[in-house]
Amino acid sequence: MEQAYDFGLIGLGVMGRNFILNVADNGFTAFGNDLDDEKVNALKEEGGDLAKVNATTDVATFVKALAKPRKIMMLVPAGKIVDAVIEGLLPHIDKGDIIIDGGNSFFTDTDRREAYLSEKGIHFFGAGVSGGAKGARKGPSIMPGGSKEGYAAVQPIFEAVSAKYRGEPCVAYLGPKSAGNYVKMVHNGIEYGLMQLTSEIYDVLKKGGDLSNKELHRTFKTWNEGRLQSFLVEITSEIFEQRDELAEGHLIDQILDKAKQKGTGKWTSQNAMDLGIPVPSIDIAVSMRELSALKDERVKADALYDRPAVTGIDKEILTKMTEEALYFSFIITYAQGLHQLADASKEYGYDVDIATIAKIWRAGCIIRAGLLADITDAFKADATLPNLLLSPSFIEKVKATVGSARKLVAYGATNGIPLPGVSNSLTYFDAYTATRLPLNLIQAQRDYFGSHTYERLDKEGIFHTEWGQ
Ligand code: 6PG
Repeated sequence: MEQAYDFGLIGLGVMGRNFILNVADNGFTAFGNDLDDEKVNALKEEGGDLAKVNATTDVATFVKALAKPRKIMMLVPAGKIVDAVIEGLLPHIDKGDIIIDGGNSFFTDTDRREAYLSEKGIHFFGAGVSGGAKGARKGPSIMPGGSKEGYAAVQPIFEAVSAKYRGEPCVAYLGPKSAGNYVKMVHNGIEYGLMQLTSEIYDVLKKGGDLSNKELHRTFKTWNEGRLQSFLVEITSEIFEQRDELAEGHLIDQILDKAKQKGTGKWTSQNAMDLGIPVPSIDIAVSMRELSALKDERVKADALYDRPAVTGIDKEILTKMTEEALYFSFIITYAQGLHQLADASKEYGYDVDIATIAKIWRAGCIIRAGLLADITDAFKADATLPNLLLSPSFIEKVKATVGSARKLVAYGATNGIPLPGVSNSLTYFDAYTATRLPLNLIQAQRDYFGSHTYERLDKEGIFHTEWGQ
């Protein structure tokens, strides 16, 4: 009898190739499929032993090579390609087989696909995979949701290949339907927020504190050894060290300041709006990527307006202030993303456990951070916590750092250094912790011009006034 492989993977780009090699490293046999001959051959060569890792360009051969129930993961670009791959598989697979979408698919697409495939007796689930190419090879964080039965079949493989935090695998079944893709989407929204924040802090350290790349490297490196310990802070410190191969100096100084995006951060913002959950630290991160793309207009506008001359600030003072402001803003960004997840869980029936999500984000993924251990504990202590800011264990952390966020935002505003992420995080904090906001006036205005009615502080009921009479 021909060999039956444990795991199949479609899409042998960098992520797919690394993931399948990771599966093989962990003692499972794996078979790959891609339309591209070169990718198929590259995998066979890198795998070394065809009994462990094999591949083909032909779907029928691929499916035939897999042990039943077949466990087939797709790592292909989100969108129509996913549907095309599924259609290509359907004539060859059987009831009870499992298809996993490991890409960043939009969650409603996952719901549609799950409904479609479950009618055909196929288990389908979306599993967000985070950690980039290195993570896929050495241990990503995996966020599966959807068919529970389907997940049970691949659980041993996923647990073996995932990153480990103190021995615990960074993967867990998160909930039905598109729970996995939704969690990955919000992960990316938080990722956008944290990246925006680190870029602002870099800007203010450079413009206000005149820190050289070497000093920036050291600063982020030191921070990474403290409470800001995180993958993004770590790679930021390394980025400032990278020499340029094409010109003199450091590479960072030659990179065009236009940030691209594939859309997951935008989806997070859009869906937060749909749910009515404020995530301004994520919203602004999306807007800043959009603003950065308007380079030509920015250059023209720069010539039209004066910018205040920057008043320098002592490096040590600024470093302390920025560390605190960044820590504060990181907390606020996680708080917003998790708030959105908690609400989405109710709205879409995912019934996710926030502590489990924070737990599987502690290693392997792009937003992994020391803070996530504290966040996990906070939600373990109270699974119904609506917002991290209400957790007793976060009150002191926030109180101790919010003052620096205020000082930094004021400094940025006075000196014309945009700090929208820190500033939005601070504004969110000030508004979320305010018993009274001035939106009573908005209600009055709405009722004034549109008879939209209002409620009162002192009496139950709905009221309308003939204003100005
Ligand atoms: C991850 C990342 C990854 C994402 C890239 C690029 O968790 O490994 O989130 O899934 O695709 O970070 O995203 P943008 O192109 O939108 O910045």
